[in-house]
Amino acid sequence: MSKVTVVGAGNVGATVANVLAHKDIANEIVLLDLKGKMAQGKALDMWQQAPIDYYSSRIVGTDKYTATKNSDVVVITAGIPRKPGMSRDDLISTNAKIVVSVTESILKYSKNPIIIVVSNPLDVMTYAAFKASKLSPKRVMGMAGILDTGRYRAFLASELNVSPKDIQAVLMGGHGDTMVPLPRYTTVAGIPVTELIDKDKLKAIVERTKKGGGELVGLMGTSAWYAPGAAAAQMVESILRDENRIFPCATMLTGQYGLKNISLGVPVQLGKEGITNVMELKLNAREMKLLKKSAQHVTDVLKTFNKMKLV
Ligand code: NAI
Ligand code: 2OP
Repeated sequence: MSKVTVVGAGNVGATVANVLAHKDIANEIVLLDLKGKMAQGKALDMWQQAPIDYYSSRIVGTDKYTATKNSDVVVITAGIPRKPGMSRDDLISTNAKIVVSVTESILKYSKNPIIIVVSNPLDVMTYAAFKASKLSPKRVMGMAGILDTGRYRAFLASELNVSPKDIQAVLMGGHGDTMVPLPRYTTVAGIPVTELIDKDKLKAIVERTKKGGGELVGLMGTSAWYAPGAAAAQMVESILRDENRIFPCATMLTGQYGLKNISLGVPVQLGKEGITNVMELKLNAREMKLLKKSAQHVTDVLKTFNKMKLV
């Protein structure tokens, strides 16, 4: 029996619930939003999709935390998305309060859930949920790296005219313009990407990836949801199936890469207890410098959060 709660039934939250339902791995999916009727309506719509797409997961829409009781995994997508001209960091004053209060409400009804944060600014909101929940660092994580590598892999697939399925990549750092895509760890069906693409094109793809979220905000007037929703659902899947898959996720670092007391994207393994392993890659001096720069940026945003004294 497994139960997943998704908080926030907006663009990303509804997509997480829908992709998860299609994976048919949870007995129950609770979709909770301040806008209870909207959450109910979306859940009912998805339940009516079940006979067509053949899944059995029950989907419940609500604004009541009692419905989230004994959740195994909780995905937090509640909060405002950015509009054109805004950075993810501009969302902190609104979203920090939401993420802290949502986390506290969840913990009243589920004693030891695994929490996946999606709300932005992602790395600091993951830290906020970790502090507010008082859970083990293995059980609180943030989704960003799967999305960012998804963008990087998709751009490479278009450029090389190959299937995105054949591109494997790692990306580290914060979920923002300082993120660190790692061409040295990128392969196309096992072939190092550097053998297949010229330097300038690869550099342009790395730069486009870093600004990938902003590109979509510019096109749509709000941030993306299909790839983000699918990415969070993939994390839930690895946890519920105890797959131990390796993904870049935001996690509380405890000395890895010389960093601690910060949540940052690094490759981790995800299984039924949450983060089962934080992987330490042998970064070269240039890569380490970029990672430290990204960590410094996240630390600056963290200072704003700490000044709010919410936890
Ligand atoms: P949205 O506006 O479509 O949905 C957000 C939902 O949260 C709304 O339905 C709203 O009613 C609800 N909400 C607000 N406060 C709440 C509370 N206290 N309790 C319960 N529900 C509450 O926004 P969207 O596009 O779904 O984005 C959600 C968040 O995810 C944003 O902060 C966005 O920046 C972030 N995001 C993060 C990504 C990542 O890679 N980590 C990718 C895409 C979005
Ligand atoms: C994205 O990268 C907004 O963080 C979100 O699309």
